[in-house]
Amino acid sequence: MKIFTYGCQMNDLDSQKLYSLLYESGWIPTESTSEADLIIINTCSVRQKAYEKAMSNIGRLRKNKSRKNSLIIGVIGCAAQQEGKNLIERFAHVDFVLGTHRLHSIPSIVDEVFLKKKTHVVDTGFSNYIPSMDIIPSPNFMQPPHRAYINIMQGCNNYCSYCIVPFVRGPEISRDYKDILDEVKLHASRGVKEVFLLGQNVNSYNGGITFHELLGMINEVDGIERIRFTTSHPKDMSDELIESFSRLVKLCPHVHLPFQSGSDRVLRYMNRHYTSEHYLGLIEKLKSKRKDIAFSSDVIVGFPLEEEADFKKTLDLIKRVRFDVLFSFKYSSRPGTSASRIPDHVPLEEKKRRLSILQKIQKRIARENLERWVGHIVEVLVDGTSKRDNSQVFGRTGQNVIVNFPGSPDLIGKSVRVRITRANPNTLTGEIA
Ligand code: 5AD
Ligand code: SF4
Repeated sequence: MKIFTYGCQMNDLDSQKLYSLLYESGWIPTESTSEADLIIINTCSVRQKAYEKAMSNIGRLRKNKSRKNSLIIGVIGCAAQQEGKNLIERFAHVDFVLGTHRLHSIPSIVDEVFLKKKTHVVDTGFSNYIPSMDIIPSPNFMQPPHRAYINIMQGCNNYCSYCIVPFVRGPEISRDYKDILDEVKLHASRGVKEVFLLGQNVNSYNGGITFHELLGMINEVDGIERIRFTTSHPKDMSDELIESFSRLVKLCPHVHLPFQSGSDRVLRYMNRHYTSEHYLGLIEKLKSKRKDIAFSSDVIVGFPLEEEADFKKTLDLIKRVRFDVLFSFKYSSRPGTSASRIPDHVPLEEKKRRLSILQKIQKRIARENLERWVGHIVEVLVDGTSKRDNSQVFGRTGQNVIVNFPGSPDLIGKSVRVRITRANPNTLTGEIA
């Protein structure tokens, strides 16, 4: 079996779970597409480019199927949810299409296709409980094995006007906090050092306790050294959560807080429910709780009604916050969203121009932020050995900066103090302190 994964960490985690489930039912993973007897494409539809990549991959597999008729092909994830049976109409070589609430049923569907020669199975139903949130991936399929990604909620109720996620992941559903804690403890007993909590909007988690209470409980679990989470919405970032950054020793000093636009006018059209001033206020509050905190964010340029003056405000915000990492995207219309009904007057060339200006500024800021680390000693949790040179290892600081340094593979999974000697465009280089 082989799984192709597109999109976010939620999809990566779903694929880890799926590998674990299918391995239990006898399927052996392979890197080779031509050798695989079962191929699953875990799709993303958040932006048009990701969607098209997944679609062209599905198209290419037609040849594999005609060469090997017994090959089973399944499509899952956000685009599967969105397209449902249309995918089968477009790609008759696909055996099953299962939506984002149906991950747990894949092994039994695969059995039906394999044993009973069923084909063209489609199930994109939503439910009030998502069984796959409780599936715990096996350490064999966790990458790296000392970091556990954990689903704490799924879906979104915000309906930002550009975003397809509420349609493809469904409404917000939180997982019971006791199940989450049990999972954290199980991972800790298996040697996991870092937990990474995932949800489309973790700030509105409500699985019996609030999000900051959940963080407080995980902070008490023996063996866990680091806690991270993503993604946050600026309108839901509570004072208690902000306070957690000074209160909880294991909470990493890094916040991913998408701002999307620096213009209040565009933020209104985006249905974001905050202003740029509110956003900057949050950044200041977070800094006042932990002065070494790092910020990353998402931003969209060329939203249908964005004018030059709006774009300038986005650039101003970037220069004020000085993000460590910024994921920047050209707006792409997603079918079914409310923004897709606004006539898009920003030509593609103009979107490209804005994106390139923004990325140039951000590149400089990121580089300057990295240079500030040179000469400092940081704590690195070692993730693996360098692909090019196995006398080098790499890992991440609490701020989520990647650090490379000379070291042996037995450091993997350990925390090491490293003196930073050089800043590279996106990473740091150092030596054991
Ligand atoms: N066009 C461009 N970028 C988008 N994103 C979400 N929807 C769109 C869209 N239609 C970006 C947002 C979000 C990130 C995951 O993807 O910045 O935070
Ligand atoms: Fe893509 Fe969003 Fe779905 Fe993740 S949740 S796979 S980013 S559409």
